[in-house]
Amino acid sequence: MSSIKEQLFSEVAECDASSNNKVTVVGIGQVGMACAFSILTQNVSSDLALIDVAADKLQGELMDLQHGSAFIKNAKIQASTDFSVSAGSRLCIITAGARQRPGESRLDLVQRNTDIFKGIIPKLVEYSPNTILLVVSNPVDILTYVAWKLSGLPKNRVIGSGTNLDSSRFRFLMSQRLNIAPTSCHGWIIGEHGDSSVISRCEAGEIIPVWSGVNVAGVRLRELNPDVGTDSDTEKWCELHSEVVNSAYEVIKLKGYTSWAIGLSCASLASSILRNTNNVHAVSTLVNGEHGIKEEVYLSLPCVLTANGVSHIVKQILTDSETVQLQKSAALMQQVQLGIKW
Ligand SMILES: NC(=O)c1ccc[n+]([C@@H]2O[C@H](COP(=O)([O-])OP(=O)(O)OC[C@H]3O[C@@H](n4cnc5c(N)ncnc54)[C@H](O)[C@@H]3O)[C@@H](O)[C@H]2O)c1
Repeated sequence: MSSIKEQLFSEVAECDASSNNKVTVVGIGQVGMACAFSILTQNVSSDLALIDVAADKLQGELMDLQHGSAFIKNAKIQASTDFSVSAGSRLCIITAGARQRPGESRLDLVQRNTDIFKGIIPKLVEYSPNTILLVVSNPVDILTYVAWKLSGLPKNRVIGSGTNLDSSRFRFLMSQRLNIAPTSCHGWIIGEHGDSSVISRCEAGEIIPVWSGVNVAGVRLRELNPDVGTDSDTEKWCELHSEVVNSAYEVIKLKGYTSWAIGLSCASLASSILRNTNNVHAVSTLVNGEHGIKEEVYLSLPCVLTANGVSHIVKQILTDSETVQLQKSAALMQQVQLGIKW
């Protein structure tokens, strides 16, 4: 007797199993799974691969997601410790990484994560030579540089999640003060992603809120009060800056890690890339030549994201002190990079 499947269907043509929106997430800890969940539930990709070194956890997360398949758009989800599962990915998101040990310097952490990346990045590129890499692991700007060097990919295809998250935190805090939606609050945080401060607060990343551009419906707050963002401002808008810097620290103190906001932030970046939207995001990109920076380092600036990665960097009009701060960050990053053993 023929099987139920044979009785149920007349085959017309073999189905083409390939998708053009495959995303691989490497590292399925708190951040990796938040990225995966946001991407699936927002229908950014219908073809997701998960990779980690922890085989049981992989299987558990895979099954848990698959059991929810009836509630999301038809998505293929795979998981393996073997990188062949990532073959044909348009985007690979790297959240794997060691956490900083007490007393460990930033350079030591960079070296440990560089050694982890040596086992990840070349394999991702081997199986998906045309992929775009989105690095999330911290310290994200330096590790994006490491991924770029290890991958051999052009600079437009290696991106760090950077200050897309810090900018979102800033816009949320602004929305709380003004009682309007964060999407209607416009402000950009550039420079070094602030969460590096989580691993060692005294080595805080140099995020830079571009106060001159902060606006609602084109009305710039600086035009209403030239002191906004400075110590002389009686309304203390500058507190938003320190609140953004402390955000991750506060969340980690309370719940042990950050996950949902970075997951949503990565899903928004993935959406712009996979859907080729030309949206502008603050992401970590190679910045030598921008704002007088001479060093070959990754820092966040507003970038146009396309199916080809970063197509343009927006030339923001910065104040002298903002430019000096960016240049200082670049010099510091290069110092750390010079200590990396390849
Ligand atoms: N850029 C940002 O805005 C941002 C925000 C939050 C967290 N982070 C960073 O993201 C990273 C992950 O954070 P988390 O909370 O998910 O950590 P986690 O410890 O929960 O997860 C890390 C995962 O990486 C896996 N892993 C380790 N080595 C691996 C390897 N060689 N190959 C594959 N997988 C490997 C581990 O098994 C684990 O599942 C950290 O570096 C954290 O600082 C970045």
